[in-house]
Amino acid sequence: MNDHLSARAVEASLRGRFGRPLRVVETTGSTNEDALQWSQQGAPEGALVVADHQRQGRGRHGRRWLSRPGGALLFSLVLRPSRAVDEIELLTTALGVACAEGIESVTRLRGALKWPNDVTVDGYKLAGILVESRLEGARVDAVVAGVGVNVSWPEERISSDELNATSIAAEIAGSARGEIPSRAALLGHILTGIESAYDSLAHEEARRDLMRRAAERSLVLGREIQVRLADGGTVSGRAESLTESGALAIDTSGGTIVVRAGEVEGVRPA
Ligand code: BTN
Repeated sequence: MNDHLSARAVEASLRGRFGRPLRVVETTGSTNEDALQWSQQGAPEGALVVADHQRQGRGRHGRRWLSRPGGALLFSLVLRPSRAVDEIELLTTALGVACAEGIESVTRLRGALKWPNDVTVDGYKLAGILVESRLEGARVDAVVAGVGVNVSWPEERISSDELNATSIAAEIAGSARGEIPSRAALLGHILTGIESAYDSLAHEEARRDLMRRAAERSLVLGREIQVRLADGGTVSGRAESLTESGALAIDTSGGTIVVRAGEVEGVRPA
């Protein structure tokens, strides 16, 4: 399938206020880096950078995000949340839910959420999200939400020390479940979902509904897990629940520990 990602195709897929102003580029280092720089130059909330390919895609925890030209949907959205820190933590969850739901609505693939927001199928990563903030003093001036969805690469599931990855094409191959969507169509659905999830953060009832949807898709809740923390330490136990702010409550031998950020390393049935 020829899936040329033109500005015109992207514009035609936009339904809400996110995605304006728009920059569509062939190749860049990292759309997150571009969006952070643009936000410094005054890009408003909703500004969007989309790339066909990245040379230095960034992943969480300093890792690289690999893609092939034309093989992934890669974009970064500028947000300017007014309610600072709490909202930013919840935002991480909201983005995961929106991506998983957006992918499902177009492809019928039901992705699970590996806390906090990796979208996975059978444990293979289909989409990743990197949220980066730009501070002015102690204030968050802008947040950039970067999303990478593997669309036609890898062609088959990859399992290696560095990577456990899949793509929409790999999951659809051999099944009668549908066609590989165009990246523009996928972007339109995901962005609409992000906008609605983002707006729901301001309303208690809608926030609760969002957390319910995150819990429903969770790969970790009820399982024995190990989470690596930023300082290198680990927390092991049974993943109990998601807190109101999207943190993970883990039932450990020493009591409940609430983890706000970290990397889930092992997931076993409880
Ligand atoms: C992760 O799961 O580690 C997060 C991956 C995020 C990748 C996306 S691709 C578009 C945007 N630009 C980047 O450099 N990273 C994010």
